[in-house]
Amino acid sequence: MDFKKLGNTAVEIPAVGIGTWEMGGGSSPDTSTDAEGIRAIRRAIELGMTLIDTAEKYADGHAEELVGEAIQSFPREQLFIVSKVWPDHLQYDEVIKAAERSLKRLRTDRLDLYLIHHPNPDVPLKETVAAMEKLVERGMVRFIGVSNFDVAQMEEARSCLTRNEIVVNQLPFSLLDREIEKEKLPYCLKNQITVMAYWPLSRGRLARDKFLEETGKKYGKTAAQVALNWLTARENVIAIPKAVNMEHLEQNAGAAGWRLSGEDIQSISDHFR
Ligand SMILES: NC(=O)c1ccc[n+]([C@@H]2O[C@H](COP(=O)([O-])OP(=O)(O)OC[C@H]3O[C@@H](n4cnc5c(N)ncnc54)[C@H](OP(=O)(O)O)[C@@H]3O)[C@@H](O)[C@H]2O)c1
Repeated sequence: MDFKKLGNTAVEIPAVGIGTWEMGGGSSPDTSTDAEGIRAIRRAIELGMTLIDTAEKYADGHAEELVGEAIQSFPREQLFIVSKVWPDHLQYDEVIKAAERSLKRLRTDRLDLYLIHHPNPDVPLKETVAAMEKLVERGMVRFIGVSNFDVAQMEEARSCLTRNEIVVNQLPFSLLDREIEKEKLPYCLKNQITVMAYWPLSRGRLARDKFLEETGKKYGKTAAQVALNWLTARENVIAIPKAVNMEHLEQNAGAAGWRLSGEDIQSISDHFR
């Protein structure tokens, strides 16, 4: 696995992690596939994808419970656990309570990274950020970040912080969705904010792309691996593909540890422009 610097910190995180949306259900819990989800998270960790992305919203908390079950057999310090607070819970007390619930479901005493899942214009960002800083002070959260924030919202969040930095913005980014290249990605690069790319495989579509498949043949890699390598070739970008299929997991882990040539990165960029 390749590692990348987290924001402006000295901490290193894997270039490819694992997402957990749709593990343990969609918007509500579905326990019928629990074993599959737990097995996938464990396999991801064994393969080096030790960054696990989840959220209180996923399966209404059940995705966090699956992560909690899966991680018990691994040394905690080897893992980087990310969760997110939903926009309904951005008032000061609600943030604290949401984090406490997440920790309980995850069966751990700290989150490595806690993100505001989406902005909520009805709650002053200053209030939310103050609660996030309190969580850091209490040792319940190591680092703070945001998700789905535009440049103005990132600026505001950064200006509200007094003792911490925004180290991550989790945003949609793939060869089929390059909107962030216009403003958000350059802003993050300039300000040492790591971009955590979600929907990195465009929900699986890119794994079936013929152009990527052809490019991958030169390297002995699949289309999905090329798509993920194209993303993580950016200095401040990591990817969090979700997979439960064992073959998919192995491919995604193998998307790191090698590099597309500059020429191929350019031709892929041009092809999908
Ligand atoms: N912050 C936010 O607002 C936000 C929004 C959406 C998502 N996210 C996070 O980002 C993660 C990733 O997004 P996503 O799960 O929606 O989409 P995704 O990672 O782009 O795609 C997941 C789909 O691709 C398939 N897949 C994975 N690896 C593959 C491979 N190597 N070859 C072929 N197919 C493959 C998976 O199948 P199998 O599962 O069958 O293996 C699954 O159907 C989420 O799980 C979540 O943690 C965050």
